[in-house]
Amino acid sequence: MNTVIWRCAVLLLCPSLVGCGDGPGSDDVPAERDESAVVPAERDESAFAAAARLGRGVNLGNALEAPREGDWGYRITRADVRLVKRLGFDSVRLPVRWSSHMGPPPEYAVRPGFAARVDEVLDWCLEEGLAVIVDDHHHEAVVDDPEDNGRRLLALWDQLAARYVDRPPELYYEVFNEPHGALDAEAWNGLLAEALATIRRHDPDRFVLVGPARWNMIWMLKRLELPVGARRLIVSVHYYEPFEFTHQGADWAGRDADSWLGTAWTGSREERAALDVAFDVAAGYARRTGRPVHLGEFGAYSKADYASRVRWTRAVREAVESRGISWAYWEFASGFGIYDPETGEIRDELAAALLEGAP
Ligand code: BGC
Repeated sequence: MNTVIWRCAVLLLCPSLVGCGDGPGSDDVPAERDESAVVPAERDESAFAAAARLGRGVNLGNALEAPREGDWGYRITRADVRLVKRLGFDSVRLPVRWSSHMGPPPEYAVRPGFAARVDEVLDWCLEEGLAVIVDDHHHEAVVDDPEDNGRRLLALWDQLAARYVDRPPELYYEVFNEPHGALDAEAWNGLLAEALATIRRHDPDRFVLVGPARWNMIWMLKRLELPVGARRLIVSVHYYEPFEFTHQGADWAGRDADSWLGTAWTGSREERAALDVAFDVAAGYARRTGRPVHLGEFGAYSKADYASRVRWTRAVREAVESRGISWAYWEFASGFGIYDPETGEIRDELAAALLEGAP
């Protein structure tokens, strides 16, 4: 079982993520109406092409970002990667908890055995013709104390960018999954600029994803500051609204999560309008800044009723695709998954909600 408690600390203090300061509250008017933080820029065509190349993707989650791969009941296999390709996905997002496998300061050297395992998985993806995003996931020390521990992130990217510089352009980097906590917008904007500079010292041409503070929420795009003139960047957002629907019964989503059980998503006009509002903000951001947006995570947990999950998943996917935004579903083979690795079964309706029309 997934014993992730990463959101718990926030959620225990703040029972509904949506209803408190971490959600789209009064401070978080849609960016469409707040252009103050946005620097108009020339459209970065190569970044838009690279974002389009990501197409329809899936997170190979709950494996390499567990404390140790297998701790959460799933290990990635060669056959799984082949299946991802065969189902019709174009890309994979590979969440990785590097921080569990880094040595002491000042080098914070990534343990060779773990790095080799990540290489193996990402090379399987590339061999299958899947683009692959490798991220830094659950790096809690940086979230807790960015001032003291930001150097851990820089040391990590110094190693990764040197390691992967010769991989094909279908390998993408994502600087950090879901900044939150003490890694607030101000701290994050500073640290991300340093991380990008570190990456560019080794690997100037790589496409790099970077998302806003507060869990990569769309509403926080207006607070994201990227180095002026920086190119080949793709802006990553995550979407799990309504949170009471997508995270009902999730043991890492705080003490109220069980009381949300039974929340349906019917596809009513109001529910669909909420999707339009969110993704209009994302598309508007891309238009104004000249930078593409990618939806790096969205999904509804298996404790929600299946028909609602299928409806919501299709609606989100259609909402983003109609705006030219590529995406990666959360996730392949665990609690949100479209595939059950124990029985070998595909959850057909969920897979169809994501992949219909795929060649
Ligand atoms: C986290 C996962 C979690 C998912 C949905 C991801 O960003 O890394 O552990 O299951 O969001 O809550």
